[in-house]
Amino acid sequence: MRVSVSTLLALPLFAVSAQAQFEQYQDQLQTYLNKFASYIPNTNRVDAADAAEAKTGEKKMSVLTLDNWQQTLYEPVAPGTTQPEEWWVLITGRNKTCFGRCDQVNAAFNETAIKFATLPESEVPHMAYLNCDDQPVLCNIFSVGPASLWAMDMLPPGNEINIWGKRLNTTTTTTQDLLDLYADKEKSEFKLVTHVFHPFNGWFAQNGLSVAVAYVLWFFTVVPNWTIMLLVSFASRSMMNRRMPGQ
Ligand SMILES: *[C@@H]1O[C@H](CO)[C@@H](O)[C@H](O)[C@H]1NC(C)=O
Ligand SMILES: *[C@@H]1O[C@H](CO)[C@@H](O)[C@H](O)[C@H]1NC(C)=O
Ligand SMILES: *[C@@H]1O[C@H](CO)[C@@H](O)[C@H](O)[C@H]1NC(C)=O
Repeated sequence: MRVSVSTLLALPLFAVSAQAQFEQYQDQLQTYLNKFASYIPNTNRVDAADAAEAKTGEKKMSVLTLDNWQQTLYEPVAPGTTQPEEWWVLITGRNKTCFGRCDQVNAAFNETAIKFATLPESEVPHMAYLNCDDQPVLCNIFSVGPASLWAMDMLPPGNEINIWGKRLNTTTTTTQDLLDLYADKEKSEFKLVTHVFHPFNGWFAQNGLSVAVAYVLWFFTVVPNWTIMLLVSFASRSMMNRRMPGQ
């Protein structure tokens, strides 16, 4: 039986019985909804215990999420300063986005963080970890995939932010390589990020669109191709049907 909202409004008596019926099935409906929701992949997953350990433990490293990335990166930046605070962000993944090949890079980065944590804060970058398996939408906002290193020169909000990117070799990168990279203040092995998806300076970010676009791109990666074909075919058929009567 199909009941539309307008029929319910037009038939108050019937509506009462429908409501009773609805309440009867509410629990069941809730169960179905929960089940359905469990099929939707989580776009903002974080292991809170691991993140807390990373931050307060010997690594002194932040774990970036869709909710905290801006606040985290701006946090050490003093208001009004013209001296950039440097962040190093490792963009990594597990089996889904790095095909299980990021272990060595992860270990090298973590070990580098432990080394940096023993040095005076002014001499080393702030360290952050971004896992694209857990944070697919944030990786789309950044428009970057594993295994990459981003050196970000954070200035107070409203300023252009320079980001230097470098792809890391997943089979050869060692802690020493990362320490050498940091020692090279010229950043000769890095490339300045300038594309339109730049998360601070880019056109999409400046127009407040990067989150929406990131979700759309993510949608196309998780929805199977046949679903999109089906939707397109439905859409084009219903458009044709609408045009028919006038012809
Ligand atoms: C990742 O892939 C490896 C090898 O295919 C497998 O042994 C491991 O269980 C996978 N890990 C996860 C978390 O799925
Ligand atoms: C590196 O640190 C992150 C953040 O704490 C953690 O999730 C990851 O398992 C670590 N990887 C290795 C190889 O130590
Ligand atoms: C990583 O380094 C190895 C050894 O130098 C090289 O053979 C390989 O092609 C490199 N991989 C990438 C993706 O550059």
